[in-house]
Amino acid sequence: MDGNGDAALGPQGSHASDPLASALGARSVVLVGMMGAGKTSIGKRLAQRLGLPFFDADTEIERAAGMTVPEIFEKRGEAEFRQGEQKVIARLLGDGPIVLATGGGAFMNEETRQNIAKAGVSIWLKADFDVLMRRVRKRSNRPLLQTADPEATLQALIDKRYPVYALADMTVHSRDVAHEVIVEELLTILSRHLGAKTVPMPQSSASRSIVHVGLGDRAYDIVIGSNLLEEAGSRIAALAPGAACAIVTDETVAGLHVLELEESLTASGIRHARITVKPGEQTKSMTELTRVVDAILAAKMERGDLVVAVGGGVVGDLAGFAASITRRGMRFVQVPTTLLAQVDSSVGGKTGVNSEHGKNLIGAFHQPSLVLADTDCLDTLSPREFAAGYAEVVKYGLISDASFFNWLEAHRNGVFSGGVDRVHAIEVSCAAKAAIVMRDEKEEGDRALLNLGHTFAHAFERIVKYDGTRLVHGEAVAIGLVCAFQFSQRLGLCHGQDVVRVEHHLKSAGLPTHVRDIPGWDAGTESIMDAMAQDKKVKRGKLTFILARGIGESFIAPDVAAEDVRSYLDAYLTASSG
Ligand SMILES: NC(=O)c1ccc[n+]([C@@H]2O[C@H](COP(=O)([O-])OP(=O)(O)OC[C@H]3O[C@@H](n4cnc5c(N)ncnc54)[C@H](O)[C@@H]3O)[C@@H](O)[C@H]2O)c1
Repeated sequence: MDGNGDAALGPQGSHASDPLASALGARSVVLVGMMGAGKTSIGKRLAQRLGLPFFDADTEIERAAGMTVPEIFEKRGEAEFRQGEQKVIARLLGDGPIVLATGGGAFMNEETRQNIAKAGVSIWLKADFDVLMRRVRKRSNRPLLQTADPEATLQALIDKRYPVYALADMTVHSRDVAHEVIVEELLTILSRHLGAKTVPMPQSSASRSIVHVGLGDRAYDIVIGSNLLEEAGSRIAALAPGAACAIVTDETVAGLHVLELEESLTASGIRHARITVKPGEQTKSMTELTRVVDAILAAKMERGDLVVAVGGGVVGDLAGFAASITRRGMRFVQVPTTLLAQVDSSVGGKTGVNSEHGKNLIGAFHQPSLVLADTDCLDTLSPREFAAGYAEVVKYGLISDASFFNWLEAHRNGVFSGGVDRVHAIEVSCAAKAAIVMRDEKEEGDRALLNLGHTFAHAFERIVKYDGTRLVHGEAVAIGLVCAFQFSQRLGLCHGQDVVRVEHHLKSAGLPTHVRDIPGWDAGTESIMDAMAQDKKVKRGKLTFILARGIGESFIAPDVAAEDVRSYLDAYLTASSG
């Protein structure tokens, strides 16, 4: 390697220590796709994650020719450019392993395709027409688009190239989301393609999705797939050899799934003890916290042992907090068994209990060491709880991924009925959450976006006194999401059409979308305002809301005037009785 590229030995570790990079061996990762698909920016981040050098073929061609790409096109013509491109790519691949971003036309050359197949794996970064047009319009260095009708030219290029790009080994949908989200998807698909192992795991690992949460010495994997309870013993033994496990679960989950997990631990020679709490939000209390901590100590768990949370968000939040304070901090494993917990609460390290002053007011940031999301557990979940978790899935589309929301609109039935669509939705959601948590672990900035709809939701939950027979958390989030969009529309930020789509989609998933859907609801504006004032998103009387300029375009609004909220709520409640 001549060192011309960006040597990208990133914080995630060196090439030799990365299991994916080891599985790649001498093969390079080659990104193909149209101009504007994000090959360079995403390729650089991917290279960093894999600990491999990054090269951009166009930059190398420019370096070799001493001219820019438009100049080569102008002075020597496209044919000569293509010849040079073929040579440069062959040379770079000969020096692999690397991550290589190729120009839009490179993969059209059959010899180049063969070279790539011999020396690497190819991934097509596939982007929709609108996304490409928006991105390339901003740049002037695209010689093929310097025509009278760039839109028609781009469409013609798409028609010609997409059938050839489809020959790549893998495809990832490039869209307007944080690059980290796409990189997570690339790592997952690569891992699946190569059968790479992040922890020692059984042969069936190729059917697993793994989302890595890169947080330095607190980094961990979220493993998603079926049959994971059965594998829990071997995975936990690999994570913490010799450690015992305090399993925290609730009565419902204990009767359904815990035995399988315990058998797996026993088979791996792991000592374990079971601590059972009552199901429901009321369990997230200081009283239960004390009881769980005492039980962990009574089971003679030491500092190097693990707490294993098996259940929904209630168990995960409570057990995670107990782990963070017992013996000044024990490691813990999340085994989320509700959809909500698999896509949200088990990831990101927020743990805690409720106070009489409000929800989640007592807690700690304490990252799990591993998350095992066994999708088989969701088969025993009630339709109501499944739908509630789905509200959090929708939330990710609404925050920053309009394409994902579009996808959900088309695949909702698939997500509800199970199979690949369900796994895909969980995977995208976890990758989205992981990307935000990696940017802002302690919620000092962007992470607040995850609270879209939650200021309203927490107020509604508080008003019904966390009575799960009337309202469960995900349902409150569904109503809150609609409120956040309606409120944004009222402030002139977002179109009514987006509000209608959000409401319609949540309703069609069987979720409540208005407080009038909550049995026995009789609270007025002032009660809601009071309940909101207890929320920890209040600073010096001003409320922080997550508002939206449209689907996938949410932002943090730290200074929302109480009067604006009050007048929105007045109108909202009046409309409900009309
Ligand atoms: N820490 C975070 O970042 C975060 C994020 C979102 C939500 N939360 C918290 O998560 C909690 C809500 O989580 P939840 O919706 O999972 O609720 P939950 O934990 O109360 O679970 C819902 C119900 O489903 C049952 N259940 C769980 N798994 C089951 C299964 N596989 N089959 C059948 N029944 C099953 C439970 O016993 C419970 O009755 C709230 O307290 C919320 O504040 C935390």
